[in-house]
Amino acid sequence: MAIEQQREHWSSRWAFVLAATGSAVGLGNIWKFPYIAGENGGGAFVLVYLLCIAAIGVPIMAAEILLGRRGQNNPVATMQGLAREAGAARAWSLIGWFGVLAGFLILSYYSVIAGWTLAYVVRGAGGAFQQADSTEISRLFADLVADPERLLAWHTLFMALTTVVVARGVSAGLERAVRLLLPGMLGILLLLVGYAWVEGDVGAGLRFLFTPDFSALSWDSVLIALGHAFFTLSLGMGSIMVYGSYMRRGSSIASTTLMVAAADTVIALLAGLAIFPIVFAQGLEVGSGPGLVFETLPNAFGHMPGGRFFGTLFFLLLLFAAWSSSISLIEPAVAWMSERFRITRPMAAGLSGAVTWVLGLATVLSFNLWAEKKPFWGMNPFEFVDYLTANLMLPLGGLAIALFVGWRMGSAERREEFDALHPVAYNAWLWGLRVVAPTAVLVVFYNAVFG
Ligand code: TRP
Repeated sequence: MAIEQQREHWSSRWAFVLAATGSAVGLGNIWKFPYIAGENGGGAFVLVYLLCIAAIGVPIMAAEILLGRRGQNNPVATMQGLAREAGAARAWSLIGWFGVLAGFLILSYYSVIAGWTLAYVVRGAGGAFQQADSTEISRLFADLVADPERLLAWHTLFMALTTVVVARGVSAGLERAVRLLLPGMLGILLLLVGYAWVEGDVGAGLRFLFTPDFSALSWDSVLIALGHAFFTLSLGMGSIMVYGSYMRRGSSIASTTLMVAAADTVIALLAGLAIFPIVFAQGLEVGSGPGLVFETLPNAFGHMPGGRFFGTLFFLLLLFAAWSSSISLIEPAVAWMSERFRITRPMAAGLSGAVTWVLGLATVLSFNLWAEKKPFWGMNPFEFVDYLTANLMLPLGGLAIALFVGWRMGSAERREEFDALHPVAYNAWLWGLRVVAPTAVLVVFYNAVFG
């Protein structure tokens, strides 16, 4: 019990909303969403993604916050405690372990990509994109990823930034970071949307994002949209659970969830509106994959008025977004280590950071020395870890959370922890968890695997 009383909490409900939004808004929104929308045909994919957010993401996010807040502990201990309380099998605590593991795996590649954004802030400010032609820009990117030592240096720097924040704890670390980073992000994003409006082809951007062409949609695209809904909302691995555990009783889970999900979605769409109009105006290719924001976009900025300033701002935005997310990816492990082994936060943060750093070497090498090594079903280690975590582990983790809260948890406990909602809203949420979310996950899995 002593540990529980010593546990830190967010200073207010708003701090939780900020932190959870900071976790949700990340490379997923600004780097990944635009390129997967580009690869999967735009409008129809965006529609499926929005549906997945509303019908599956929102109920599961509420469930995950609920577990964390009731548990008041790290994800492993929370799931052990709540399984015991419900008289359920101990195996449910695998949800917590799974989360710690998925956090390490996701952050191991997330940090390498975030390292690129650090490199690009420096390059953008140095004027490297100005008047360079597209082959030169592509070469800049190719040279960066081809050099394992440079990738390693940026990965190391980004992991250091992440570790320093979590080492300082909940209020002096996590909360302070998001209080600075989020307003910065929002300001930059609005500025960039304004810039795209003035200098880009907004009509083409809007048409691309919002005109559905269902012929471009395969089951694999649907799986990617579903996986991305989990990824972008930070669901299925304990980030939101551990953030929920720093929340005090008495604030509404339902409205908090809606705010975070809405903020994340609006920011993803705004990022699309900052990027696609510029890409279209310059006549560039939207389906260029992970290189979209690192090759296509600098190429566009390099030819536009004020491009040096706005291009640098763009990568700064990406860096802030990645930073406020990476701290939530590592927090489940740090909370678990420090509470389980009673070591200090700086110690736990250093250890978790070191584990992630080592795992990140596989991603560093995937872009150069191992690029042609594809031992994992035709994927290199980076592609494999990305696919495994986003498309399999997160939906499975989310499924388990939905089933636990929907079917296994005592209904009195569930009701007590959730808000005094209108019964219709409560039941919509409950049946969303019990039936809609699990069915959707299973149908999409089935079709992606056997379809
Ligand atoms: N949501 C973040 C993004 O969009 C990444 C992230 C942070 C995450 N915590 C997570 C993804 C937990 C999955 C699970 O970039």
